[in-house]
Amino acid sequence: MKKNIAIIRGDGIGPEIMAQAVAVLDTVAEKYGHTFTYMDAPMGGEAIDRFGDPLPKSSLETCLASDSVLLSAVGGPKWDNMPKDLRPERGLLRLRAGLGLYANLRPARLFDELRDASPLKSSIIDKGVDFVVVRELIGGAYFGEHSTEKLDGEYYAKDIMGYSEHEIERIARVAFETARKRRKKVCSVDKANVLDSSKLWRKIVTKVAENYPDVILSHMYVDNCAMQIVRDPSQFDVIVTENLFGDILSDEASMITGSIGMIPSSSLGDGTRGLYEPIHGSAPDIAGTDSANPIGMILSAAMMLRYSFDMPEEADAVESAVNSILQEGFRTGDTMSEGKMRLGCIDTGMAICEKIK
Ligand code: IPM
Ligand code: MG
Repeated sequence: MKKNIAIIRGDGIGPEIMAQAVAVLDTVAEKYGHTFTYMDAPMGGEAIDRFGDPLPKSSLETCLASDSVLLSAVGGPKWDNMPKDLRPERGLLRLRAGLGLYANLRPARLFDELRDASPLKSSIIDKGVDFVVVRELIGGAYFGEHSTEKLDGEYYAKDIMGYSEHEIERIARVAFETARKRRKKVCSVDKANVLDSSKLWRKIVTKVAENYPDVILSHMYVDNCAMQIVRDPSQFDVIVTENLFGDILSDEASMITGSIGMIPSSSLGDGTRGLYEPIHGSAPDIAGTDSANPIGMILSAAMMLRYSFDMPEEADAVESAVNSILQEGFRTGDTMSEGKMRLGCIDTGMAICEKIK
């Protein structure tokens, strides 16, 4: 197969980990007889520096013309004091909206080899951690009306959190479909005891559930969910929630796995084109030191192979290569522990490529 992949090299450690993901994709292409063509689509800090815009029109067009988009991570202290529209995050939000990517899937899975890295007690993680947060990505407070005005002699700022039925319906469907391929449980998370948008959320999710009698639906308030994730994460299979709640809960979920550098994510809309990225940030403090963990980025590429390109065998090959090097005791700095062998970013990528061959 021939595939065009838009590449956002990103900021900080972004270009380093992306280079390893591309090396892995090239290895896959060679072994399985595919042709992958890469097209650069500058976004974030790099794009601000070069074009004065965190998402230049040409970059969005490149992504729209691609079969899928691979992103490392954007941002850094250099751009922290820029006005809102000129911040790297703006580029990411505009890209998500521009590509219509309303469903963000963030798996939280504990790697057996990295159990010691979890901050939770073994009595809790012994029951297993394997769930996925399905986060609505282009609605809610992120995309509602924002304003700051002077009112009665002081500033007043607001961000409207709103959801329409169709926005809730389509993300609910993604959650139920995802659950069907897993343990068939959906927990819908809201704040329906306080918020109107959550009341509508609960009503629509319940309605969509009628089409999925084989999936068990439960509801939970977001504050309780934050607690349950650390109290007993084994109770969750698929969590579906609105944008801002999902932003917060997915960080919490990744933390309990103890290996934020290893977790990939996918953002999808109605077609097969997706945006795949590791969930960690651009770690500017270690940029250029060859010590970043490229595994989250590489597993994001594997997710792209599986979900956008329908290449399950190729995705399996990448994922088992990652498992093999972990089993053999290789670690990057972030997951290093006694008795293990430490590898840099480049050597980790090379070790994974060797396994795939
Ligand atoms: C994330 C990030 C982004 C978000 C930021 C960088 C805008 O935290 O992908 O979770 O809030 O969605
Ligand atoms: Mg976040």
